[in-house]
This record gives sequence, structure tokens and C-alpha cells, in this order.
Amino acid sequence: MQVVNTVEKLQQQISEAKKSGLKVGFVPTMGALHNGHVSLVKKAANESDLVVVSIFVNPTQFNNSKDLERYPRDLKTDLEALSKVKCDFVFAPSVDEVYPEEDNRQFNFGDLETVMEGKYRPGHFNGVAQVVSRLFRMVTPDKAFFGLKDFQQLAIIRAMTRQLNLPVEIVPCDTIREKDGLAMSSRNMLLSDAQRKNAPLIARTLFESCNFVAGTSVQGVKKKVVDTINTDAELDVEYFEIVDGYTLQTVDNWDESDYIVGCIAVFAGEIRLIDNVTYKL
Ligand code: PAF
Repeated sequence: MQVVNTVEKLQQQISEAKKSGLKVGFVPTMGALHNGHVSLVKKAANESDLVVVSIFVNPTQFNNSKDLERYPRDLKTDLEALSKVKCDFVFAPSVDEVYPEEDNRQFNFGDLETVMEGKYRPGHFNGVAQVVSRLFRMVTPDKAFFGLKDFQQLAIIRAMTRQLNLPVEIVPCDTIREKDGLAMSSRNMLLSDAQRKNAPLIARTLFESCNFVAGTSVQGVKKKVVDTINTDAELDVEYFEIVDGYTLQTVDNWDESDYIVGCIAVFAGEIRLIDNVTYKL
């Protein structure tokens, strides 16, 4: 495993590999790696010849400077985790390397970005599209791997890839959970003991809600989920939307789409956790 910090070095290595016909699999991350990331890297290794992982905390996707400041960073531990799996290159650039000039591009993702995360984190997805499109141009992957936990992010990245005509296959990967059901996230390490103890209620409630879909209206399921989680002293639901899995627009009844997903954001103190459950596919 080689760690590279500059685009020039990275591209030298990748173009050599591509000349020999190797297929490049890419896992973009912001570091603070957990087993969810490791599973993305393993999938990339199964489906490609050369695996590149980027570690870059992208400032343009944080709409809250405090959130950017406290985002966990630990390159040494990340490299240790990556050295245990097949990872050929770790690309760990500086902010100036990724953004030699300010990126003023404004993407337009229409209704995909005005709901849920897009509504509560204005500018967030524009920043994600900026950095992922730059990383795609730097890494030139054949396939890129993203977790389904960030359900809306995946839809945005697919749309961005289509809009810019980038020749990259986007591969969705299952959410990896702790034993108690909590979706793995770099933010979990910021939770207090009490918040960590109670946070699995989010996933438990989402999974249990699948059992009462038959016979309960969409509004009824929404209310039950929100009320259950909000009874917990440590947790506060920011939104819970039941949406068409393709368009991300809310549905009013279960027959409205053949792909229906419940997406949630919950505050545990100042830490924001997201998760989702598929009701219908
Ligand atoms: O999901 C993340 O960790 C980030 O949003 C990503 C895709 C690496 C872009 O910074």
C-alpha cells in the first residue's frame, strides 16, 4: 500500500496500471474509517484490480463550521486499518491540492436536493458533487463504491455522474451495522456513553416499523417512528420522510411507487445521525 499526497504522483501510478489493462476501483472517504468503510474497500477489491481509497475531509460540503472542526481525523489509525485489506493506493491530498482555485460550480439536482439532507444542510450536496467530481477526474476510476446509509448522497452522485458524463460505474453497498443495529458512521465515535447506549433505538424503530406497514397508513408509520424515537431523552428526530426511492419525493400511500424508503436524521445532542430502511423494492 502506497500513500500519495499529490495528483501528479497519483496519476503517474494510475496511468501505469491502466496501460496494463488494470481496472481501478475507488472508495472516496473523509477518513475516521470504520468497518463500513472497510467493507467498501473489500467490495472494491473483489470487483477491481487496483484499489484506491481517498482520505480527504472536504470543507465545501460542511454547512456548519463547528461540524467541520470537530470532524474526527486520525490518518495513522486509518492507514493501519487499510493496511489489513487490499488497498493499493491511499490518496490523502491537502485542501490546496484538491482546490488549487475556489470551486464556484453550482450544480442543479432539481428536486433531488431540495428534500431531507438537502433541505436541512443547504449547500451540502453541492460540496459533495464538487469534491466527488474532482476526485473522479483525479483518480479516473472504472467503478466507485458508496454506502447506502447515505441514501440521498448516492442519488446525487449518480445524477452528477450522469450530468458530467463521467465514465464511472457507481456501485451501491449495503449499510454495515454495529451488533446492536446502529448504522456505522464516523460520527458514532463522538457520541457520549449515554447517547451511544440509546442510539440503536433509531435502527430498531426503523426495522420494527416494517412490521406495521401492512394495515397502517404512510402518515401513521411516520408518526409512530417519530414518536417512538422522540420518547428517548437522548434523541431528537430532525426529519423522517417516507419517499420514492428513485425520486426521493415523499409518498402519501404505499401503492405510489415500487421502491419506497424511510429516511431519517436524528440529533443525539449535537451529533447528527442518519439512517434509512427499505419498505418496498
Ligand atoms: O460520504 C462521505 O464520506 C463523503 O461525503 C464523500 C463521498 C467522501 C465526499 O467527501
